[in-house]
Amino acid sequence: MPRQIILDCDPGLDDAVAIMLAEGNPEVELLAVTTVGGNQVLDKVTHNALAVGSLAGVTAPIAAGAGHPLLEPMQDAGHVHGDSGLGGVTPPPVRRDLDPRHAVDVILETVMSRDPGTVTLVPIGPLTNIALAVRREPRIVERVFEVVLMGGAVRGGNQSPVAEFNIACDPEAAQIVVTAGWPVTMVGLDLTHQAQATEDVFARIAEVGGPVADLTLGMLSFYRDAYRASGRLDHPPLHDPCAVAHVIDPGVMTTRRAPLQVELTGTLTRGMTVADLRFPADESCRTRIAETLDADRFWDLVLDALHRLAAKASA
Ligand code: BDR
Ligand code: CA
Repeated sequence: MPRQIILDCDPGLDDAVAIMLAEGNPEVELLAVTTVGGNQVLDKVTHNALAVGSLAGVTAPIAAGAGHPLLEPMQDAGHVHGDSGLGGVTPPPVRRDLDPRHAVDVILETVMSRDPGTVTLVPIGPLTNIALAVRREPRIVERVFEVVLMGGAVRGGNQSPVAEFNIACDPEAAQIVVTAGWPVTMVGLDLTHQAQATEDVFARIAEVGGPVADLTLGMLSFYRDAYRASGRLDHPPLHDPCAVAHVIDPGVMTTRRAPLQVELTGTLTRGMTVADLRFPADESCRTRIAETLDADRFWDLVLDALHRLAAKASA
Protein backbone atom coordinates (compact mmCIF):
# COMPACT_ATOMS: atom_id res chain seq x y z
CA MET A 1 0.00 0.00 0.00
CA PRO A 2 1.73 3.25 -1.08
CA ARG A 3 2.03 6.06 1.45
CA GLN A 4 -0.52 8.74 0.66
CA ILE A 5 0.88 12.25 0.77
CA ILE A 6 -0.02 15.88 0.23
CA LEU A 7 3.00 17.80 -1.07
CA ASP A 8 2.83 21.47 -0.06
CA CYS A 9 5.47 23.31 -2.08
CA ASP A 10 6.86 26.50 -3.62
CA PRO A 11 8.62 25.38 -6.83
CA GLY A 12 11.48 26.25 -6.72
CA LEU A 13 14.21 24.14 -8.28
CA ASP A 14 14.50 21.52 -5.55
CA ASP A 15 10.70 21.50 -5.09
CA ALA A 16 10.40 20.57 -8.77
CA VAL A 17 12.65 17.55 -8.22
CA ALA A 18 10.62 16.66 -5.12
CA ILE A 19 7.44 16.64 -7.23
CA MET A 20 9.15 14.33 -9.74
CA LEU A 21 10.43 12.03 -6.98
CA ALA A 22 6.95 11.77 -5.45
CA GLU A 23 5.25 11.14 -8.78
CA GLY A 24 7.93 8.77 -10.02
CA ASN A 25 8.14 6.51 -6.98
CA PRO A 26 5.56 3.74 -6.61
CA GLU A 27 5.84 3.71 -2.80
CA VAL A 28 4.03 7.05 -2.54
CA GLU A 29 0.71 8.20 -3.90
CA LEU A 30 0.29 11.94 -4.41
CA LEU A 31 -3.17 12.92 -3.18
CA ALA A 32 -2.65 16.63 -3.88
CA VAL A 33 0.01 19.20 -4.65
CA THR A 34 -0.60 22.53 -2.94
CA THR A 35 1.38 25.72 -3.41
CA VAL A 36 2.48 28.53 -1.14
CA GLY A 37 4.33 31.77 -1.79
CA GLY A 38 7.99 31.26 -0.94
CA ASN A 39 10.80 30.81 -3.42
CA GLN A 40 8.76 33.05 -5.72
CA VAL A 41 5.38 34.74 -5.53
CA LEU A 42 2.33 32.51 -5.50
CA ASP A 43 1.37 32.92 -9.18
CA LYS A 44 4.82 31.88 -10.32
CA VAL A 45 5.22 28.87 -8.02
CA THR A 46 1.71 27.71 -8.92
CA HIS A 47 2.48 27.98 -12.63
CA ASN A 48 5.68 26.03 -12.03
CA ALA A 49 3.82 23.30 -10.14
CA LEU A 50 1.39 22.95 -13.04
CA ALA A 51 4.23 22.90 -15.57
CA VAL A 52 6.35 20.34 -13.74
CA GLY A 53 3.22 18.36 -12.87
CA SER A 54 2.30 18.28 -16.56
CA LEU A 55 5.69 16.90 -17.56
CA ALA A 56 5.72 14.37 -14.73
CA GLY A 57 2.15 13.22 -15.42
CA VAL A 58 0.76 14.29 -12.05
CA THR A 59 -2.99 13.64 -12.04
CA ALA A 60 -3.62 14.63 -8.40
CA PRO A 61 -5.26 18.04 -7.84
CA ILE A 62 -2.91 21.02 -7.86
CA ALA A 63 -4.25 23.97 -5.84
CA ALA A 64 -2.92 27.40 -4.91
CA GLY A 65 -2.78 28.50 -1.29
CA ALA A 66 -1.43 31.39 0.74
CA GLY A 67 0.45 34.11 -1.09
CA HIS A 68 1.78 35.72 2.05
CA PRO A 69 3.07 34.59 5.44
CA LEU A 70 0.92 35.06 8.55
CA LEU A 71 2.86 38.08 9.86
CA GLU A 72 6.17 38.43 8.03
CA PRO A 73 6.32 40.40 4.80
CA MET A 74 6.68 38.10 1.79
CA GLN A 75 10.33 37.50 0.85
CA ASP A 76 11.29 35.38 -2.13
CA ALA A 77 14.46 33.48 -3.01
CA GLY A 78 14.86 34.70 -6.59
CA HIS A 79 18.61 35.00 -6.02
CA VAL A 80 18.73 31.18 -5.80
CA HIS A 81 15.75 30.05 -7.89
CA GLY A 82 15.68 32.80 -10.52
CA ASP A 83 13.01 35.27 -11.53
CA SER A 84 10.66 32.51 -12.71
CA GLY A 85 11.37 30.23 -9.75
CA LEU A 86 12.64 27.50 -12.09
CA GLY A 87 16.05 29.00 -12.79
CA GLY A 88 16.97 29.60 -16.40
CA VAL A 89 14.88 26.83 -17.94
CA THR A 90 11.79 27.34 -20.03
CA PRO A 91 9.05 25.65 -18.02
CA PRO A 92 7.38 22.71 -19.74
CA PRO A 93 3.98 23.51 -21.29
CA VAL A 94 1.05 23.43 -18.86
CA ARG A 95 -1.30 20.66 -19.95
CA ARG A 96 -3.61 20.52 -16.97
CA ASP A 97 -5.98 22.67 -14.92
CA LEU A 98 -5.54 24.29 -11.56
CA ASP A 99 -7.99 23.00 -8.96
CA PRO A 100 -10.30 25.96 -8.19
CA ARG A 101 -10.27 25.30 -4.43
CA HIS A 102 -7.93 27.04 -2.01
CA ALA A 103 -5.04 24.82 -0.93
CA VAL A 104 -6.22 24.90 2.69
CA ASP A 105 -9.61 23.51 1.60
CA VAL A 106 -7.90 20.81 -0.44
CA ILE A 107 -5.75 19.81 2.54
CA LEU A 108 -8.72 19.73 4.93
CA GLU A 109 -11.09 17.94 2.57
CA THR A 110 -8.44 15.36 1.70
CA VAL A 111 -7.43 14.63 5.29
CA MET A 112 -10.95 14.66 6.75
CA SER A 113 -12.45 12.46 4.03
CA ARG A 114 -9.87 9.71 4.33
CA ASP A 115 -9.32 7.12 7.04
CA PRO A 116 -7.59 8.48 10.13
CA GLY A 117 -3.86 7.85 10.18
CA THR A 118 -3.47 7.44 6.44
CA VAL A 119 -2.43 10.86 5.10
CA THR A 120 1.08 12.26 5.48
CA LEU A 121 1.74 15.96 4.99
CA VAL A 122 5.01 16.85 3.29
CA PRO A 123 5.52 20.62 3.43
CA ILE A 124 8.63 21.77 1.57
CA GLY A 125 8.02 25.53 1.58
CA PRO A 126 6.96 28.07 4.20
CA LEU A 127 4.42 26.48 6.55
CA THR A 128 1.62 29.03 6.05
CA ASN A 129 -0.93 26.66 4.44
CA ILE A 130 -0.41 23.93 7.03
CA ALA A 131 -0.73 26.36 9.94
CA LEU A 132 -3.92 27.83 8.46
CA ALA A 133 -5.31 24.31 8.03
CA VAL A 134 -4.60 23.50 11.71
CA ARG A 135 -6.30 26.70 12.83
CA ARG A 136 -9.33 26.13 10.55
CA GLU A 137 -9.83 22.48 11.55
CA PRO A 138 -7.79 21.37 14.56
CA ARG A 139 -9.08 17.80 14.21
CA ILE A 140 -6.63 17.23 11.36
CA VAL A 141 -3.89 16.97 13.98
CA GLU A 142 -5.29 13.60 15.13
CA ARG A 143 -6.12 12.39 11.64
CA VAL A 144 -2.81 13.02 9.89
CA PHE A 145 -0.36 10.11 10.06
CA GLU A 146 2.68 12.38 10.31
CA VAL A 147 4.23 15.60 9.04
CA VAL A 148 7.60 15.31 7.30
CA LEU A 149 8.80 18.82 6.57
CA MET A 150 11.83 20.29 4.86
CA GLY A 151 12.90 23.26 6.88
CA GLY A 152 14.90 24.38 9.83
CA ALA A 153 18.43 23.74 10.93
CA VAL A 154 20.02 22.83 14.21
CA ARG A 155 23.56 23.92 13.38
CA GLY A 156 23.41 27.05 11.23
CA GLY A 157 20.90 28.55 8.81
CA ASN A 158 20.89 29.84 5.25
CA GLN A 159 18.53 32.80 5.49
CA SER A 160 20.33 34.13 8.57
CA PRO A 161 23.25 32.75 10.59
CA VAL A 162 20.76 30.57 12.48
CA ALA A 163 17.48 30.45 10.49
CA GLU A 164 16.62 28.36 7.47
CA PHE A 165 14.60 29.94 4.60
CA ASN A 166 11.26 28.06 4.91
CA ILE A 167 11.04 28.72 8.64
CA ALA A 168 12.36 32.29 8.43
CA CYS A 169 9.71 33.13 5.83
CA ASP A 170 6.89 32.37 8.26
CA PRO A 171 8.12 31.66 11.80
CA GLU A 172 4.66 31.88 13.38
CA ALA A 173 3.28 29.29 10.99
CA ALA A 174 6.26 27.03 11.66
CA GLN A 175 5.75 27.28 15.42
CA ILE A 176 2.07 26.35 15.01
CA VAL A 177 3.04 23.30 12.96
CA VAL A 178 5.90 21.97 15.11
CA THR A 179 3.96 22.39 18.37
CA ALA A 180 0.56 21.12 17.13
CA GLY A 181 1.02 17.72 18.77
CA TRP A 182 1.18 15.51 15.69
CA PRO A 183 4.33 13.57 14.83
CA VAL A 184 6.73 15.91 13.03
CA THR A 185 10.02 15.00 11.40
CA MET A 186 12.11 18.05 10.61
CA VAL A 187 14.37 17.38 7.64
CA GLY A 188 16.59 20.43 8.02
CA LEU A 189 19.80 21.77 6.53
CA ASP A 190 21.90 19.52 8.78
CA LEU A 191 20.57 16.63 6.71
CA THR A 192 19.94 18.19 3.31
CA HIS A 193 23.48 19.51 2.94
CA GLN A 194 24.46 15.85 2.63
CA ALA A 195 22.33 15.56 -0.56
CA GLN A 196 24.67 17.42 -2.89
CA ALA A 197 24.33 17.00 -6.62
CA THR A 198 27.91 16.16 -7.58
CA GLU A 199 29.30 15.81 -11.12
CA ASP A 200 28.56 12.10 -10.86
CA VAL A 201 24.89 12.86 -10.12
CA PHE A 202 24.74 15.22 -13.14
CA ALA A 203 26.16 12.44 -15.33
CA ARG A 204 23.63 9.92 -14.05
CA ILE A 205 20.76 12.33 -14.75
CA ALA A 206 22.06 12.95 -18.28
CA GLU A 207 21.86 9.19 -18.91
CA VAL A 208 18.09 9.33 -18.27
CA GLY A 209 17.64 11.35 -21.48
CA GLY A 210 14.56 13.10 -22.85
CA PRO A 211 12.61 16.11 -21.54
CA VAL A 212 12.66 14.92 -17.89
CA ALA A 213 16.46 14.85 -17.86
CA ASP A 214 16.71 18.10 -19.84
CA LEU A 215 14.51 19.94 -17.35
CA THR A 216 16.31 18.49 -14.34
CA LEU A 217 19.78 19.23 -15.68
CA GLY A 218 18.77 22.76 -16.68
CA MET A 219 17.39 23.46 -13.23
CA LEU A 220 20.32 21.92 -11.39
CA SER A 221 22.88 23.80 -13.50
CA PHE A 222 21.26 27.11 -12.53
CA TYR A 223 21.07 25.95 -8.90
CA ARG A 224 24.74 24.98 -8.92
CA ASP A 225 25.74 28.36 -10.33
CA ALA A 226 23.71 30.13 -7.66
CA TYR A 227 25.37 28.14 -4.87
CA ARG A 228 28.83 28.70 -6.31
CA ALA A 229 28.21 32.44 -6.81
CA SER A 230 27.27 32.79 -3.16
CA GLY A 231 30.44 30.97 -2.12
CA ARG A 232 28.52 28.46 -0.05
CA LEU A 233 28.82 25.03 -1.64
CA ASP A 234 30.35 23.72 -4.87
CA HIS A 235 27.56 21.20 -5.35
CA PRO A 236 23.95 22.25 -4.82
CA PRO A 237 22.04 20.46 -2.05
CA LEU A 238 18.65 19.07 -3.07
CA HIS A 239 16.81 19.94 0.12
CA ASP A 240 13.19 19.22 -0.69
CA PRO A 241 13.47 15.72 -2.20
CA CYS A 242 15.02 14.59 1.10
CA ALA A 243 11.65 14.97 2.85
CA VAL A 244 9.93 12.90 0.15
CA ALA A 245 12.71 10.32 0.33
CA HIS A 246 12.13 9.93 4.07
CA VAL A 247 8.49 9.06 3.42
CA ILE A 248 9.41 6.55 0.70
CA ASP A 249 12.20 4.91 2.67
CA PRO A 250 12.70 6.02 6.30
CA GLY A 251 15.96 4.04 6.33
CA VAL A 252 17.51 6.55 3.93
CA MET A 253 18.34 8.74 6.95
CA THR A 254 18.73 8.59 10.68
CA THR A 255 16.51 10.73 12.87
CA ARG A 256 16.58 11.65 16.51
CA ARG A 257 13.73 12.48 18.86
CA ALA A 258 14.12 16.02 20.21
CA PRO A 259 11.80 18.70 21.63
CA LEU A 260 11.50 21.42 18.99
CA GLN A 261 10.42 25.06 19.05
CA VAL A 262 10.73 28.02 16.71
CA GLU A 263 12.28 31.24 18.00
CA LEU A 264 9.79 34.07 17.42
CA THR A 265 11.17 37.00 19.34
CA GLY A 266 14.98 37.00 19.14
CA THR A 267 16.41 40.06 17.48
CA LEU A 268 19.17 38.02 15.87
CA THR A 269 17.59 34.58 16.05
CA ARG A 270 13.98 34.93 14.82
CA GLY A 271 13.08 31.88 12.75
CA MET A 272 15.70 29.64 14.34
CA THR A 273 14.57 26.08 15.06
CA VAL A 274 15.65 25.26 18.58
CA ALA A 275 16.03 21.53 19.24
CA ASP A 276 16.80 20.46 22.78
CA LEU A 277 19.63 17.96 22.35
CA ARG A 278 20.91 18.10 25.92
CA PHE A 279 19.28 14.82 26.99
CA PRO A 280 17.76 11.82 25.22
CA ALA A 281 14.09 12.75 24.69
CA ASP A 282 11.50 10.42 26.15
CA GLU A 283 9.01 8.54 24.02
CA SER A 284 6.24 11.07 24.54
CA CYS A 285 8.21 13.57 22.45
CA ARG A 286 6.55 13.74 19.01
CA THR A 287 9.15 15.80 17.16
CA ARG A 288 12.23 14.38 15.48
CA ILE A 289 15.14 15.92 13.63
CA ALA A 290 16.93 14.27 10.73
CA GLU A 291 20.65 13.71 11.18
CA THR A 292 22.56 11.50 8.73
CA LEU A 293 21.71 10.75 5.10
CA ASP A 294 22.63 7.62 3.19
CA ALA A 295 23.47 9.71 0.11
CA ASP A 296 23.93 6.76 -2.27
CA ARG A 297 20.53 5.36 -1.34
CA PHE A 298 18.99 8.83 -1.72
CA TRP A 299 20.38 9.39 -5.22
CA ASP A 300 19.30 5.90 -6.26
CA LEU A 301 15.73 6.85 -5.31
CA VAL A 302 15.90 10.11 -7.27
CA LEU A 303 17.42 8.46 -10.34
CA ASP A 304 14.96 5.58 -10.26
CA ALA A 305 12.05 8.05 -10.19
CA LEU A 306 13.46 10.08 -13.10
CA HIS A 307 13.89 6.91 -15.17
CA ARG A 308 10.29 5.89 -14.45
CA LEU A 309 8.97 9.34 -15.41
CA ALA A 310 11.02 9.35 -18.61
CA ALA A 311 9.65 5.92 -19.53
CA LYS A 312 6.10 7.09 -18.76
CA ALA A 313 6.55 10.26 -20.85
CA SER A 314 7.79 8.30 -23.87
CA ALA A 315 5.11 5.56 -23.62
C1 BDR B 1 14.51 25.50 1.34
O1 BDR B 1 14.37 26.84 0.88
C2 BDR B 1 13.96 26.88 -0.45
O2 BDR B 1 14.68 27.84 -1.16
C3 BDR B 1 14.14 25.48 -0.99
O3 BDR B 1 13.16 25.18 -1.96
C4 BDR B 1 13.99 24.61 0.23
O4 BDR B 1 12.64 24.28 0.46
C5 BDR B 1 15.95 25.27 1.74
O5 BDR B 1 16.34 26.16 2.72
CA1 CA C 1 10.93 24.56 -1.22
